[in-house]
Amino acid sequence: MSEFAVGDEDFLLDGRPVRLLSGALHYFRVHEAQWGHRLGMLRAMGLNCVETYVPWNLHEPEPGRFRDVAALGRFLDAAREAGLWAIVRPGPYICAEWENGGLPYWLTAEAGARARTRDERYMERVSNWFGQLLPEIVPRQIDCGGPVIMVQVENEYGSYGSDAEYLHRLTGLMRKLGVTVPLFTSDGPEDHMLTGGSVPGVLATVNFGSHARVAFATLRRHRPQGPLMCMEFWCGWFDHWGGEHAVREAGDAAEALREILECGASVNLYMAHGGTSFAGWAGANRGGGALHDGPLEPDVTSYDYDAPIDEYGRPTAKFMAFREVLAEYAEGPLPEIPSPPAALGATAGVELTAWAPLDAVLEALGGPETSGPVPPTFEELGVERGLVRYAVTVPGPRQPYPLTVRGLRDLAVVYVDGERAGVLGEDEDCLKEPVAGYARVELWVESLGRVNYGPRLGEPKGITGGLLHERQFLHDVRARGLRLEALDDVGRVREVASRELPEEGVPGLYRGTVVVRGAGDARLELPGWTRGFVWVNGFALGRYWSAGPQRSLYVPGPVLREGGNEVWVLELEGTARRGSDEADAPVLRAV
Ligand code: GLA
Repeated sequence: MSEFAVGDEDFLLDGRPVRLLSGALHYFRVHEAQWGHRLGMLRAMGLNCVETYVPWNLHEPEPGRFRDVAALGRFLDAAREAGLWAIVRPGPYICAEWENGGLPYWLTAEAGARARTRDERYMERVSNWFGQLLPEIVPRQIDCGGPVIMVQVENEYGSYGSDAEYLHRLTGLMRKLGVTVPLFTSDGPEDHMLTGGSVPGVLATVNFGSHARVAFATLRRHRPQGPLMCMEFWCGWFDHWGGEHAVREAGDAAEALREILECGASVNLYMAHGGTSFAGWAGANRGGGALHDGPLEPDVTSYDYDAPIDEYGRPTAKFMAFREVLAEYAEGPLPEIPSPPAALGATAGVELTAWAPLDAVLEALGGPETSGPVPPTFEELGVERGLVRYAVTVPGPRQPYPLTVRGLRDLAVVYVDGERAGVLGEDEDCLKEPVAGYARVELWVESLGRVNYGPRLGEPKGITGGLLHERQFLHDVRARGLRLEALDDVGRVREVASRELPEEGVPGLYRGTVVVRGAGDARLELPGWTRGFVWVNGFALGRYWSAGPQRSLYVPGPVLREGGNEVWVLELEGTARRGSDEADAPVLRAV
């Protein structure tokens, strides 16, 4: 048992100054069977600590229903076994390019702008959640013989709000629930962020990608004493659909790391290993400058982050460059670099065998159909990740007029009298061809991930502003939601997707098998497919989209087995297939 403390100049372990060489690795973005390997990679890079967030929405899908909260405890145990200290950042908000910044969709639906403030109802939700979560952390603190040395309060709160009372209460709640190790906050190195995001008497840290000296000088204006730490050293960056792939050169990143260490500071590499936002959990940003109030920029499935340990767990040039820098600060020789996990033995094509149209999928796996005067939001239908089919009638007879979807979030594939009429989005919200009455209109709306940063955090999904024919609202809207999770049910999916393959590559749920020789790490390519989700043996790989820049999905080796494996693809727009003979079969390749 040891004591970890914040000294006047350094972190202190049993009174001895220590420097934290930490790296971010999110347990929820790495297959559990691979935690050990990845943690070993962190050690071999020269790190002595691992940092993870905790996504509230993953663990409390409905108010009061908790799901595998113990995963965090298992991960902390794995960190200890790997010989690493651990920093935990339990939010409640985490950002992290994660759906809704980690806040449950049902919470932001009820709290609106009261989320992340001292609001009583919101605080009650936080307190119930922390009541479940903290028992995973508290007995694993270093003063109980565990790896946990520090716990963060909120996340970059100064980039969002200024409710000092909220931060004060959160701090009190954590202490009350048994956190004895040092607490800290992290913020951008700007005066207003540090003013809004820090808590008197609690260690303040800063986040940045370069110019350590300038950043720490700013921090010193607010905190003349205490250890310096960069809690997020952005050594890479994330991608969004339709954007450029972000790359940060290894030498440049290593120089920036050296500058931090030369300041005598501690560091947490964000990310050391990014992993994957499996199962459609990727969030979204809004562009448009400092306000982050512009166009939606949904994050890709891969969270490779151009990190030193890539999405597949392999060391990159950045890894080697960082290792060289970190070795100078290590207490002894660095462990050898663990060999990479086995890769798939041979390329293998998926043979598609059966199918079901989206209507049949919705019928079998969707929620109940609702009807009412205005389109309900995803929140009202209880859909966190997934899609909603809205159906409305244009009364007739009447002239052809434009059909407009107001407040559309995010994409709608629209059918008029059963014919595809277009794909609409937030900016392009009106059908090209006017619609005459009488007509039946169907809109299949997909959420591309809830906003995880900025003032539009928590904004609802679906048709949020109504359906207009000419200037007239259309009422009598029927709606039915399909939660992505419904497709995790292997048996039900087999039952539903059992029709003969269609002639054309229409949207629907496709099922197939792939024969694997030499199970191991792989990536799945979907040539000719447009947009949707894939499962392998019931494990949800996440979203694919021809918009790029991501071109294939990571399939962790432990998901595959020798011989036959089941694959299903939920395609929402349609494939380039012209007939079943020329099917563009998805392909598994070695990483
Ligand atoms: C901020 C957040 C992180 C992450 C990074 C960008 O620093 O605190 O959660 O979103 O930005 O990757």
